[in-house]
Amino acid sequence: MSANNHATDSDLAEPRSGLTDAGLTNEQLSIPSAARMYDYYLGGHHNLAIDRQAAEEAISIYPEFPLIMQANRAFLRRVVVYLVEQGIERFLDIGSGIPTVGNVHQIAQQLNAAARVVYVDIDPVAVAHSAALLQGNNQAVIIEADLRQPETILDHPAVRDLLGVRQPVALILAFVLHFVIHDEQAVAVVRRLRDALPSGSYVVISHGTAERMPPDIFKQLVRLYRSTSQPVRIRSRHEIEPFFDGVELVEPGLVYVPLWRPEEAGDLLLDRPEVSGGFAGVALKA
Ligand SMILES: C[S@@+](CC[C@H](N)C(=O)[O-])C[C@H]1O[C@@H](n2cnc3c(N)ncnc32)[C@H](O)[C@@H]1O
Repeated sequence: MSANNHATDSDLAEPRSGLTDAGLTNEQLSIPSAARMYDYYLGGHHNLAIDRQAAEEAISIYPEFPLIMQANRAFLRRVVVYLVEQGIERFLDIGSGIPTVGNVHQIAQQLNAAARVVYVDIDPVAVAHSAALLQGNNQAVIIEADLRQPETILDHPAVRDLLGVRQPVALILAFVLHFVIHDEQAVAVVRRLRDALPSGSYVVISHGTAERMPPDIFKQLVRLYRSTSQPVRIRSRHEIEPFFDGVELVEPGLVYVPLWRPEEAGDLLLDRPEVSGGFAGVALKA
C-alpha cells in the first residue's frame, strides 16, 4: 500500500513485516513516531499501524503531505551530488531517518568511493535499520544520539574520527531542526555543530515552513504532531535565517526546497514550490 492509499483495518492491526524489532518500549509502540510516519509518507515498510493512522490523518488534512517529503528527499540527493562535486568526502547527517531509496552514503559513494558518512538519529527504528543496511560498509556508520545534545554527538568516537583530520565536512540537517522546538536551543545547537567544523565545510539545512499554508490546516497538523513522539515547531523564513549566521549561503540562497538547484523543468513541485512546505539552504564555512 502506498502512502496515497488509505489504510485498511487489517493493515492497522499488525506491524508491517519490514519493521525490525528495535527493542521498542511499550511507550514507543503506542505513540506515533515522526521517523516511522516519514517512512510511510515515502512508501516505506518500517512503520506500525499507529504511525500509518497518524500519517493518514495528516494526509487527510493536507493531501500533498507525501509530496513535501518526496521533494525534500529529492533536494537531499541534489545537494549530496553538489557537495561531492565541491570535493566533500565527509558527511555528518543528523536526523538521518529510516533508510529509504537514495541515502546519503549511497549517493556519495557512488560518485566517490572514498566518501565517509556518519548518520545520527534519535529513533531506535531508524538506528536499527540503518545499522542493518550499513553492515559491511566500512565507511558509513549510524549512532543513536539526540541533536539537542550536540556534545554527545561531537564526543562520539565516530564523529571525532570524522572531524579529526580537519578535512571539510558536510553537516546535513535535513527536515530535523523543526523537531527542536525551542528557538534559542535550535540556533545554539546549529552554532555548536558549525563551530566544530573545519573551514571549507558546508552546512545543509532544510526546514518545514507554513508560510503559504492556510492557518487552519497548519494548526491541525501541528496539533496532530503534538500527539507523536516528536512535536514540531514549524518556522517562517525569517525564523530559519538565523541558522545560517556565521556561514555564507551559496547560490541560490535560502529558497523553497524544489528551487534549490533544480535539475529539470519537470522536477517535483518546481511549478508550485510553496507546496513543498519547506525552505532549504546550503552554506559554506570560511
Ligand atoms: C523527517 S525525518 C528526516 C529524515 C532525513 N533527514 C531526510 O531529510 O529525509 C526526521 C528525522 O529526525 C529524527 N529526529 C527528530 N528529532 C531528533 C533529535 N532530537 N535528534 C536526532 N534525530 C532526531 C527523527 O527520528 C527522524 O528520523
